[in-house]
Amino acid sequence: MDRALGLRLARATPALVALSLLVAAPPARGKERGLPRGYRTWVHVKSMAVTDPDHGMYGFHNVYANPAALRVLRAGGAEMRFPEGAEIVVSIYEVETRGGAVNAGAKRRDVVKTKDRTATATGGWRFAAFDPKGRPIAIDPVSDCHACHAGARKSDLVFTRFSP
Ligand code: HEC
Repeated sequence: MDRALGLRLARATPALVALSLLVAAPPARGKERGLPRGYRTWVHVKSMAVTDPDHGMYGFHNVYANPAALRVLRAGGAEMRFPEGAEIVVSIYEVETRGGAVNAGAKRRDVVKTKDRTATATGGWRFAAFDPKGRPIAIDPVSDCHACHAGARKSDLVFTRFSP
């Protein structure tokens, strides 16, 4: 992840949080939908923790997939192709390490990918990020998200693998 994004998304100080609220995108409408309703009841795909606070992806991650995305993730394999409407959410929390246990702390943000063939600049996926209250965080999907996800071309820009 590039340094600027890492600083903006991963190490949000109260001042940066305030700033992100000021620059937050206008209310969701049309194709710019909000956090998918009910995603928290989708099937949990995997968890992982990036424990280094200086890392751009710092946080405890829980990944959820809607039924269309889940079918492809479950089938697995080196090459994956997701259908229109496939959706994957990563809920990212603080990492709490205490007494030998690693737990998810306070919510930091949710990031979402939605398969949408009209999103041609970002490989057929819409990328979005939301603060803990579900409000959109302003991002540049091309430079902040797609630039890195493009590395997973064989698996349709998806890095996540289903944890059996
Ligand atoms: C530096 C690289 C990098 C950047 C930048 C990045 N991601 Fe990711 N993303 C990853 C990796 C690696 C995973 C897999 C994590 C795992 O296996 O749990 C991932 C997983 C995801 C997933 C779960 C589905 C998948 O593709 O594996 C979503 C949704 C997601 N990222 C959204 C975003 C959004 C939105 C942005 C921009 C705000 C973004 N990402 C920026 C590397 C990146």
